[in-house]
Amino acid sequence: MSNQQINKSTTQLFRVKWRSPANIAIIKYWGKHGRQLPVNPSISLALRKSFTELELAVFEGDSGKAEIDFRFFFNGQRNDRFEQRIAQYLDSVKNELPFLQDFRFEIQSENSFPHSSGIASSASSMSALALSLVSFAENLGMQMPMPESQFVSYLSRLASGSACRSIFGGWSVWGEMNRVPGSSDEYAINLPFNIHSSFQTLQDLVLITSSSPKKVSSSEGHYKMNDHPFNEARKIQAVNHANQLIGILQNGDFDAFASIVESEALSLHALMLSSEPGYFLVNGRTLEIIDEIRSFREETGIPVCFTLDAGPNVHLLYPLEEKEAVIQFMKEDLLMLCEGGRWLDDCAGEGPIKITE
Ligand code: DP6
Repeated sequence: MSNQQINKSTTQLFRVKWRSPANIAIIKYWGKHGRQLPVNPSISLALRKSFTELELAVFEGDSGKAEIDFRFFFNGQRNDRFEQRIAQYLDSVKNELPFLQDFRFEIQSENSFPHSSGIASSASSMSALALSLVSFAENLGMQMPMPESQFVSYLSRLASGSACRSIFGGWSVWGEMNRVPGSSDEYAINLPFNIHSSFQTLQDLVLITSSSPKKVSSSEGHYKMNDHPFNEARKIQAVNHANQLIGILQNGDFDAFASIVESEALSLHALMLSSEPGYFLVNGRTLEIIDEIRSFREETGIPVCFTLDAGPNVHLLYPLEEKEAVIQFMKEDLLMLCEGGRWLDDCAGEGPIKITE
C-alpha cells in the first residue's frame, strides 16, 4: 500500500497537473445502483473559482504488484482518510487502467475553496485525478475504450458520481434522457443545446451557514434512497424537472428556472427528512436565508433563487446583470446569517484546464 517503506526508485517518468472545477447541480443526482449508476438524470453547471489543482507524478515501480503503490498529499500533508478513499478507487479501476500496478504514483492536491464550505470537493478532486490518470494513459499510448472526454467522465463517475459532470465547462447532463442525444448513465456530456446567454454567465454566491462535518455523507444518503417510500415518485419528478430545465436553459425564462431549482433543492432535503430514520442537514440559518431570498425576489422583482447540496450552505443563483443589487442585498440581509460572515463569490466556468505536463 501507499505507505510501505520499500526500496523506491526516484526516477520520475511523467508529471501532469490539472485544474478541475466543482459543479453545482440544478437537477440533483440522488440515489444510485450497480457500479455508481444514477437512479435519475442530473444537470449541473461547472463553477469557475471553486476548483482543485492536482498534480500526478509517476515513478518507476515494481511491476505486477497486487496493490497500487501511491502516496496522496492534501495541502502538502499526507491525509489517511483521503488516501484510503483513493486506494479503494484506484483498486476499483484496475481493469480500466491496467498500468496502475506497474508504477509508483505521488498525488498532490489542493482546493481553491475551504473544506465544508458548501462546495463538494469530491467532484473537483476526483475529476482532476481522472484527468491526470488519463493524461498518463495517453502518454503510455494506451488505447482508450471510448472518446477521451467520455472516458475521463466515466472514470470520474466511478470515484464520485457528481465528479463525472466536472469534466465539461458550462452545463452538463449525466444520465440517459430521451431528449438529449448522446446522454448516458455511464458518463456525463455537455448539454448539446444553445444555452441562453443569461444562463451561460449565471452567478453563484455560496452562503456558508456551517462548516461542521456532515452527520450523514452523500454516499449514505444515496443508498438510503434504495428502500425510500418515495423513490419511484422522485425518479418521475427528476425526469420531468430535467426535461423542463432543458427548455428553460434555451429560452432564458428565469422565473421558470427558479421554480425548478428551488423545488429540486427542497425535494432533496425532503427526501432526507422522509428517509428511515429521517435526518436533516440544514440548520436554522439555512431556512432564514431561504426565506430572505424569497422575500427579496417578491419585493424587488430581481431574479434570484437558491439551491442546496447535501448540506446546510445555500447557493444563491442569479444573472450577472443583477450582481451589484444582489451583493448589496447579501451584505445587508444575509451576511449576518453566515458563519463568521463567510461567503464565496462564484459563477459559471469553462471546465478543466491542464496546467503543466
Ligand atoms: C446532493 O457525487 O457526492 O450534491 O457518488 O457517493 O460520491 P457519491 O456522491 P456525490 O453526490 C452528490 C449529491 C448532490 C447532488 C448532485 O451533485 O447531483
